[in-house]
Amino acid sequence: MRRMRVMFDTVSIDGVVVIGEGEMDEAPMLYIGEKVGNATHPQVDIAVDPLEGTNIVAKGLTGAIAVLASAPRGCLLHAPDMYMDKIAVGPQCKGRVFLDAPVRENLREVAKALDKSLREVTVVILDRERHLGLIEEVRRTGARIKLITDGDVSPGVAAAYQDSGVDILMGIGGAPEGVITAAALKCMDGDFQARLVPENEDEVRRCHEMGIKDVKQLFTIDELVKSEDVIFVATGITDSFLLQGVRYLRGHAITQTIVMRSKSGTIRFIEANHRLDKKPLFSDQRIKIRMD
Ligand code: FBP
Repeated sequence: MRRMRVMFDTVSIDGVVVIGEGEMDEAPMLYIGEKVGNATHPQVDIAVDPLEGTNIVAKGLTGAIAVLASAPRGCLLHAPDMYMDKIAVGPQCKGRVFLDAPVRENLREVAKALDKSLREVTVVILDRERHLGLIEEVRRTGARIKLITDGDVSPGVAAAYQDSGVDILMGIGGAPEGVITAAALKCMDGDFQARLVPENEDEVRRCHEMGIKDVKQLFTIDELVKSEDVIFVATGITDSFLLQGVRYLRGHAITQTIVMRSKSGTIRFIEANHRLDKKPLFSDQRIKIRMD
């Protein structure tokens, strides 16, 4: 998180964090409302999650990424830190699935759009008790299910990436992660719909404070990300549907990053070989690196 924060100050933007590490009083940096960047132009919103999948990393599992999205100022939904019901698909399924449609209908549409049988459609769902009903409904259709322990951004994005092994993401996860996923899908012409799931009066109040009048509102991708000029960047921390995780070699680390821009439609994969002895974080903290 610290290195990401430091790097922001080398970037020529006038950025404000709209989705970040929490409120000012609970996060030391990259908190909501923090200004980042070193210029007065362009004015952008930043949504950031330096470690999407904390438990994944702690347990050495798959699916953790470092991720950020940016859009012109005022264009990213200021999503409160609460749950959100989501559905994410790729470009071929755009306009064919709906959050409120029956599961079977949505999966049938996905199968048709992808020219697959229902049995060949893969649905990713967070492995949570709240999803037992959803999992049961999906099973009844015959579609395949991949249950994930954490980290629903990576499969949400992967749904729009050909041959990723993911056709659709369904279920309830974090709202901030939802906006970040929507930003990626905007770059890939995919589709995303969502609805906040406030769990108590406090969360309802929080929605109102953040300008969301109707907490039952169905958000389309264009309401979550109100711009056609969005940038999405993610680096793999552990292996995921989309990216290879960090590979440590002696004195080096290899990373894989995806960079996308909706305006141009360009998707770049960047593989970087980092010399750890030249990385300020490692030298600052005097982490001993064997170069032999
Ligand atoms: P963290 O980045 O905070 O670890 O969140 C990971 C995550 O799995 C998200 O990808 C997902 O949207 C959310 O948490 C699910 O929340 P919960 O674990 O409460 O079901």
